[in-house]
Amino acid sequence: MWAYRDPDDYLVGFGTLDLCYEYAAETAGRIHPYIPLLAVNRPSEGRGYGKFIVRHLSDEATLLAFSGICADVLYLDVYTTSTKAIHLYEKCGFARLGGEPIPDAMEGGLSYIVMAKRASIVSGQVPLFVKGMDPEPPGLP
Ligand SMILES: CC(C)(COP(=O)(O)OP(=O)(O)OC[C@H]1O[C@@H](n2cnc3c(N)ncnc32)[C@H](O)[C@@H]1OP(=O)(O)O)[C@@H](O)C(=O)NCCC(=O)NCCS
Repeated sequence: MWAYRDPDDYLVGFGTLDLCYEYAAETAGRIHPYIPLLAVNRPSEGRGYGKFIVRHLSDEATLLAFSGICADVLYLDVYTTSTKAIHLYEKCGFARLGGEPIPDAMEGGLSYIVMAKRASIVSGQVPLFVKGMDPEPPGLP
């Protein structure tokens, strides 16, 4: 899990990355990277932080996959009502897997879709500053 702060140390959001077998039927039984949850704080929405977070998590998944630790496909699931998040994931290269939305028995009435992205090295995508892990950034664009 990562917490993301802007250069003024304001917490703008968080992201999580897991290794699991949730969609191992798609990866020939191999453990694979999975994004359980991410969010941007309300006042910071609409400023590109969501994209930074998804790209950072994708880069971390790529590192794990290219190290041979897991399959090279990153999965997530998202409620069909989360249209902004779905748009964000599509912008970041995720494709929706086929099939009808899946009802979530735990969340009465809500359905979710599964999205996936193959790990790849994409040039020019610098992850947002991760406090405590990265050197001080020169400042966000
Ligand atoms: C989804 C979420 C992470 C997006 O974060 P964000 O920082 O606002 O995203 P960005 O600023 O990077 O914008 C991403 C895209 O969404 C678009 N967008 C903004 N508001 C939108 C809206 N109301 N409906 C659809 N798309 C919208 C932006 O224009 C941008 O697309 P573009 O590049 O084509 O212009 C954030 O809204 C959030 O935390 N939502 C609640 C939790 C959630 O849904 N998490 C994801 C599922 S676990």
